[in-house]
Amino acid sequence: MSATTRLPEVIESEAALDEVLTRPSARLVEFMRTLPSPVVILGAAGKMGPTLALLARRAAEAAGHRLTVIAVSRFSDDRVRSWLTERGVQIIACDLLDRRAVAGLPDAANVIYLVGLKFGTTTQPARTWATNILTPALVSEHYARGRIVALSTGNVYPLAPFAGAGSAEGDPLTPLGEYSNSCVGRERIFEYYSARNATPMALIRLSYAVELRYGVLADIARRVYAGEAIDVTNSRFQCIWQGDANEMIIRALGLTGVPPFSLNLTSTALYSIRATALRFGELLGRPVKFSGVEMTTGLYSNTDRLMARLGGPATPVEAIIRWTAHWIAQGGRSLNKPTHFEVRDGEY
Ligand SMILES: NC(=O)c1ccc[n+]([C@@H]2O[C@H](COP(=O)([O-])OP(=O)(O)OC[C@H]3O[C@@H](n4cnc5c(N)ncnc54)[C@H](OP(=O)(O)O)[C@@H]3O)[C@@H](O)[C@H]2O)c1
Repeated sequence: MSATTRLPEVIESEAALDEVLTRPSARLVEFMRTLPSPVVILGAAGKMGPTLALLARRAAEAAGHRLTVIAVSRFSDDRVRSWLTERGVQIIACDLLDRRAVAGLPDAANVIYLVGLKFGTTTQPARTWATNILTPALVSEHYARGRIVALSTGNVYPLAPFAGAGSAEGDPLTPLGEYSNSCVGRERIFEYYSARNATPMALIRLSYAVELRYGVLADIARRVYAGEAIDVTNSRFQCIWQGDANEMIIRALGLTGVPPFSLNLTSTALYSIRATALRFGELLGRPVKFSGVEMTTGLYSNTDRLMARLGGPATPVEAIIRWTAHWIAQGGRSLNKPTHFEVRDGEY
């Protein structure tokens, strides 16, 4: 049975949502057999980490493979700690900016790095640079003998014309704004340590993971539902179901190399903000208001390498739009972490 045929019509509860987000594909189950225990996930308490950790657990279980998954974060939110432990993920509370605490982390041959800081950069830029630059250095030193998949972002590229082919992995990294530049720095620090210690790495330039509690689709839908104007200045976007993104991030452990292997991770198609808002208007029974003038350039990642190495995302965006509309109409929970998809100057 293909992944598409197993998709539900609607998602009614957080339990059902988490189940869909962490349902392992056959190819992930197969891949898990190749990983020695443990797998360490750093920065695991954010939007993606909990479901990524559980996906890894479920895939290992389905493979009949005894694999310990260790989630490392400060666990600023206590609920995440219990959510993970109840589901069989080991947790270690650790501030990854603390050199001594990092030195005490368990050895692992496979490490997934999700740490990042974006919002609040404009008011506290030093915090962003410290998180995005120092943490990669400490982690790279500690896990020099492992292999590391580190999350980066499509924000490392400058704006590209939508009429072109999109920014490819070999293109210059010359974005606007301090946040985006700190993410270039994050990549460069990993690259430096990869060369210095011969540590195989992959740098995953993700653009807009989405699920029903956060993401660019939830943001557009909530604004439409509330009768707020949708800013169309950025005109187009790409996004990927968080379950698919997590699946590919884990499988990217098999793509690591020296120098690091860079990979754009998002939808192959570009989606129109206007058309998406109108679709939500239809599904939610709301008129849609717009603001701004559509530009012909924006963040646009080329996905040829993704298609060649990992294949396309399994979950169709139209299904996610349908789930999101239903979720919002029935009062489903939001993480209250807006994407600020309208930002154009790299200032967050
Ligand atoms: N989600 C997306 O759509 C998206 C898009 C593009 C790129 N990305 C990249 O993908 C990565 C994961 O995304 P995400 O949405 O899950 O990010 P997130 O929600 O910001 O989660 C990252 C987590 O890292 C932890 N962290 C931060 N500083 C730390 C420190 N000093 N020590 C230990 N843990 C620390 C935080 O949890 P605690 O407070 O509990 O420590 C935080 O929740 C990020 O690096 C981001 O740059 C994500």
